[in-house]
Amino acid sequence: MTAPIKQHLIDPAVCIRCNTCEATCPVGAVTHDANNYVVDVTKCNFCMDCVAPCPTGSINHFVKVKTPFSLDEQFSWSDLPDVEEIPDTDGAIGTAEAIDDEAAALLDDAHKGAGGQMKAPRSASKPRINLFGRRAPAEAKVTGNLQLTGEGASAEIHHVILDFGTTSFPVLEGQSIGIVIPGIDENGRPHKMRLFSIASPRDGERPNTNNVSLTVKRVITKHVDGSEKKGIASNYVCDLKQGDTVKVAGPFGSTFLMPDDSEADIVMICTGTGSAPFRGFTERRRRSMPNSKGKLYLFFGARTPEELPYFGPLQKVPKTLLDQELVFSRLAGKPKEYVQDRMKKRAADLAALLQKGTTHIYMCGLRGMEAGVEESFASICREHKLDWALIRSKMRDEGRFHVETY
Ligand code: A2P
Repeated sequence: MTAPIKQHLIDPAVCIRCNTCEATCPVGAVTHDANNYVVDVTKCNFCMDCVAPCPTGSINHFVKVKTPFSLDEQFSWSDLPDVEEIPDTDGAIGTAEAIDDEAAALLDDAHKGAGGQMKAPRSASKPRINLFGRRAPAEAKVTGNLQLTGEGASAEIHHVILDFGTTSFPVLEGQSIGIVIPGIDENGRPHKMRLFSIASPRDGERPNTNNVSLTVKRVITKHVDGSEKKGIASNYVCDLKQGDTVKVAGPFGSTFLMPDDSEADIVMICTGTGSAPFRGFTERRRRSMPNSKGKLYLFFGARTPEELPYFGPLQKVPKTLLDQELVFSRLAGKPKEYVQDRMKKRAADLAALLQKGTTHIYMCGLRGMEAGVEESFASICREHKLDWALIRSKMRDEGRFHVETY
């Protein structure tokens, strides 16, 4: 038996024969006849240089095959053959080997709170990952940068919209992108890429727009001696102006994805900017299945309403779509409350949800909240004679328990 190999294909049904890929390929792997543009499997080294310039996305096809398709076979196609774009071990379609180890390491770290290998929900759409690396990033134009936090807030949070123009950059709710920060650090090395969760649904800020949005908090650390240290990446993104261009890698992430199932109940637990993916989830549900049987439940913690991203828009989301628990830790004259405290107040509802095979749990935000949320689930389970450890590991194995914390 021969081991399957990876092959790069171009979708002839989508390709507009503009010759950009052939002109870009540094190793002469892309060629064409009167019918099709095709990739020579013996020459392609998956450098991805051709991917960014392709205006249609027809170039983004990577499959694993036992016997590679010859040039003649590819010349004869009018559609891609019915070959499964075989998922990687973690379920993603893309270039099988991670182009970006830096992004993979960052995501692994963010997901470790799941207590084991996370799996994508069975019904989730297949994600595309690693289409653009740091070396050959996509270019996006800033089309909006709005400060979300109100007067008196102690932190500044921005909603930033990045438009990909004619570049195909397919994303799913829950995925992240990498922003390539220009310049070098104090050691003369390029700045590290920074990952941000996408805050918009797959079809863009407005339906059928080719953009993504991010929820970014400006990080400024104040030291006891009065000096300040500014977070390089967050300040770069928060300072972006409309019309600026940014270099974007990704998309990344193949497990923290939304179930594509109208029966799925989705419990979303977050703090601060950890709300980003859940904005995407909520918008996706609202657009694609507004009358679904499954419901969305949001436990969202922030210091004050002024500091809770999307506080205003959240007031307008129908209760039938989203059951909201907005929890504040620094309201004048009120005791500190965290999401895990509010969960206990909803113990009966959560216990009922934990017993349904269609319930998915997602946690995103401060790493510190993990222990508290765990403890709340354990206590809710004890109260209702359920075994949290068992439920949690079953949910994780079935792709229904997801953690992304930092
Ligand atoms: P706190 O008032 O104690 O800082 P931030 O504003 O730092 O992004 O945090 C978002 C929210 O998460 C704040 O309300 C913050 O409360 C809260 N928070 C901080 N630590 C935890 C924790 N261990 N568990 C849950 N929430 C937390």
